[in-house]
Amino acid sequence: MPSSRYETAVLPTERFDVAVIGAGITGLATALMLVRGGLEVVVVEASDVAALATGANTGKASVLQGSVLQRIRRTHSTRLARAYVEANLDGQRWIAEFAQHHGVPVAEEIAYSYASTDDGLRTVDREFEAALAAGLPAERIDRMPVPFPFAGAVALPGQLALDPYRLAVAMARAFVAEGGVLVERTRVEGVHAGRPVEVRTPVGTIRAETAVIATATPILDRGLYFAKLHASRSHLTSYRVAEPPPSGLFLSVDEPTRTIRTTPDGVAEPESGGDAPPPPLLLVGGNDHPVGGVPSTEARVQDLVDWTHRHFPGAELTHRWAAQDYHSLNLVPFAGRMPRGRGRVWFATGYGKWGLTNGVAAAIRISSEILGVPWFERRPWIRVIGTRVTRPGDLARGAEEGARVGRGLVTGWVGAQGRPAPVPRPAEGEGVVVSRGGVPYGVSTVEGRTCAVRAVCTHLGGVLNWNDAESTWDCPLHGSRFEASGRRIEGPAVYDLPETTRTRPRI
Ligand SMILES: Cc1cc2nc3c(=O)[nH]c(=O)nc-3n(C[C@H](O)[C@H](O)[C@H](O)COP(=O)(O)OP(=O)(O)OC[C@H]3O[C@@H](n4cnc5c(N)ncnc54)[C@H](O)[C@@H]3O)c2cc1C
Ligand code: FES
Repeated sequence: MPSSRYETAVLPTERFDVAVIGAGITGLATALMLVRGGLEVVVVEASDVAALATGANTGKASVLQGSVLQRIRRTHSTRLARAYVEANLDGQRWIAEFAQHHGVPVAEEIAYSYASTDDGLRTVDREFEAALAAGLPAERIDRMPVPFPFAGAVALPGQLALDPYRLAVAMARAFVAEGGVLVERTRVEGVHAGRPVEVRTPVGTIRAETAVIATATPILDRGLYFAKLHASRSHLTSYRVAEPPPSGLFLSVDEPTRTIRTTPDGVAEPESGGDAPPPPLLLVGGNDHPVGGVPSTEARVQDLVDWTHRHFPGAELTHRWAAQDYHSLNLVPFAGRMPRGRGRVWFATGYGKWGLTNGVAAAIRISSEILGVPWFERRPWIRVIGTRVTRPGDLARGAEEGARVGRGLVTGWVGAQGRPAPVPRPAEGEGVVVSRGGVPYGVSTVEGRTCAVRAVCTHLGGVLNWNDAESTWDCPLHGSRFEASGRRIEGPAVYDLPETTRTRPRI
C-alpha cells in the first residue's frame, strides 16, 4: 500500500488547490496530472487505493470494447464516435507511458470482440465497420482454435493487458512521491461548493479551491447523474489450467457475456519458486446483472464456473470476485463541471466497464480544464465530447431505466410486507428482508453473526436485496451496496444502514 502523508484520517488545516475524492483510476490519474501541473492536491479515499472496480477489473486497456463502438455509432454522429476512440487512445497511451516509467508490467495483446453463435455475427460485422470508420486497423476473423463457442470476431492488435491493481498502486506511489497528499479510510459525506469548497468527512472538513468527485457514481445528487446511469455488477473467476489458454483479450458481443484472457505475467505463485516464470492464470468473467437485481448472485458465479469447466476441462478455480461499474444511458461517459457546483466541482462517471482508458481520458479532460490549458492546446476530442447533444435514443433509454427503478422501488416495499418479523435465524450466508411495523429490515447470518439492519437504502429509500455470493445488501435502484452489518461499501449512498436489535430473529 502506498505510504500516505496522513496515516489515518488526520485532517489537514492547510488549504489545497484541489481535493480529489476517490482513489480509483479516475481520481489517481486526475490527481497525478494536477500535481504534475504544479497544484497542491489531496486525494481522500473512503477505503484503500483501488478498493473497488479499479483494483478488481479484467485489466484490458483496449480501444476495441465488445460492441461499444457500433452502439455509439448507431445513436451518435460519426464525429462523436471518432472522438470517443481518440479519447480512449489517449488514455491507452498515457497508461502505456506511465507503466513503462514506473515498472508496471504490460503485455501487448490482440483484442477480440467475438460472437459465440451465428446470431451474434451481425453485431460483429457492425463492430468491424464501426472500428474501421473510426480509423482503427481492425480485422474480421472467421475461425480461431479456441475451446469455447466461437462464430467469428473483430480483432484489433496492439491492445494492452495489465494488472490494474498494480497500476493503481504505482500511480498512488507516484502521486505521493511527487508531492500529493493521500488520505485513506476517510469517507466523504458531502461537498459544499463554497469558496473554498468544503469536503465534509466524519472527522472534519478539508478545504480546497476545487473538488473532483471521482467516486465511480457521483456521491452528490446534483445533476441527478444516478438517474442517468445504470449500475451493472459482473463476476470474475481465475483458474489454473493444464493447457495454456489461448492468447488474446476475448469479449463476447452476445449473451451471456464472457470475458476471457490470461494474466500477462502470471500472478506471483510462491510454489513456482526460482526464476521460472509463474504459469499464466486463466481469467473468465461475465454474467453481468443489474446491481441488486437477481434472485441469486451465487447461481451466477456457479454458472460461470460450470461454463469454464465445460470448455477448459480440469481448470482449477483459484479465486472469485465481483465488481460493478456504471453505464451512461447516453453510451458516452460523463466528465466535466457538475451542475450547481458553481464551477468549482468536477466529476466523471459512466464508463460502462471501460474505465481504464476512459477514466484516464476523463482525467486528461478535467485536469486540462482545471489547469487552464487554452482551448487551442487541448485535445480536439474534448470539445466534441463536451458539446454532445441528447438524442431520442438517450431519452428512450432514460425512460426505460426510470421505469425499471420505479418498479424496483414499489416491488421492494410491497415484497417486504409479505414477510412479517420475527423470522427464524437465517442459515450461514443467507439474508432475508422482513417487515416490522411496515418498515423493511434485513436479517442475515455471516460468519456466525446474525445482524438485523434497516434494509432501506440511505440514498433514496430503495429496499435492499441480499447478495448471496458476497454477503452484502445491494440496492436495485442505483447500485449502492452495504455490508451485512450495514456499513456502506459503494454507490451514491454515503451513510451506513442503521443496525438494529429490535428485529431479533427467532432462534
Ligand atoms: C467486472 C469488471 C471488469 C472490468 N474490466 C475492465 C477492463 O478490462 N478494462 C477497462 O478499461 N475497464 C474495465 N472495467 C471498468 C473499470 O474497472 C471502471 O470503469 C473503473 O475502474 C472506474 O474507475 P473509477 O476511478 O471511476 O471508480 P472506482 O474504481 O470505483 O473508484 C472510486 C473510488 O472512490 C472511492 N469512494 C467512493 N465513495 C467515496 C466517498 N464517499 N468518499 C471517499 N471515497 C469514496 C471508492 O472507495 C473507490 O476507491 C471493468 C469493470 C468491471 C465491473
Ligand atoms: S442507490 Fe439510490 S436508492 Fe439505493
